[in-house]
Amino acid sequence: MRKKIIIGNWKMNGSISHLESFYQEVKPHINKEVEAGLALPFTLISLLKSISDGDIIISAQNINENDSGAYTGEVSADMLIEAGASATIIGHSERRAYYFESDESVNLKAKKALEKALMPVICLGESLEEREEHLHEKKVETQLRAALNGIDEAYIDKLLIAYEPIWAIGTGKTASSDDAEAMAKHIREVVRSLYPAKADDLRILYGGSVKPSNIGELMAKENIDGALVGGASLKASDFISLINF
Ligand code: PGA
Repeated sequence: MRKKIIIGNWKMNGSISHLESFYQEVKPHINKEVEAGLALPFTLISLLKSISDGDIIISAQNINENDSGAYTGEVSADMLIEAGASATIIGHSERRAYYFESDESVNLKAKKALEKALMPVICLGESLEEREEHLHEKKVETQLRAALNGIDEAYIDKLLIAYEPIWAIGTGKTASSDDAEAMAKHIREVVRSLYPAKADDLRILYGGSVKPSNIGELMAKENIDGALVGGASLKASDFISLINF
């Protein structure tokens, strides 16, 4: 049985005081059936580590693929682990679009995260034009194969794949639960062709305008094992509803 996992992606939002009050409100509602996580701006990671007690997964939103060196403005896996993170988002569509992250760099970052025992949350997703031209499965499959290139099957249950159609992020437009499930199934079948013995261990998340009103329907789908949630993860009462869908 794959355990469901709900991760809030705060993007470039939040503050020390917001995280402190958010966590105090959420803490009593974290339950054993569903894993809860927060992908925070770098500056808030050590704070969550110091106020939480292992009941919530602490994630970054990006890492650098190198160990250390002259990479001004970047943060390494070791630095994040020292600060308290145990996971990191990789290849979010906003990073691919605004910071030109390629499929190759996503692959290098995923490998670095796994080498350091940080759980990568690898994001894939098509644009609206690609969906309208029925290229969505092909696009996601290309991103998936590139992201997993050279990754050993022993790591398939130590990483997460998040399917996030770009047109559904922050727009209020959610993919229908049937469309999200169809893509999750496709992702699992591609993974099955690469890692036949491990495909059923892979956890696949959906992201894109997930909110308390639609999470139940999405989580009822056979191949959807969790959610990556942006906007609705910033408000404690909504996050409580999400992790208790
Ligand atoms: P959203 O963002 O829930 O605000 O659409 C999701 C994401 O970008 O991970």
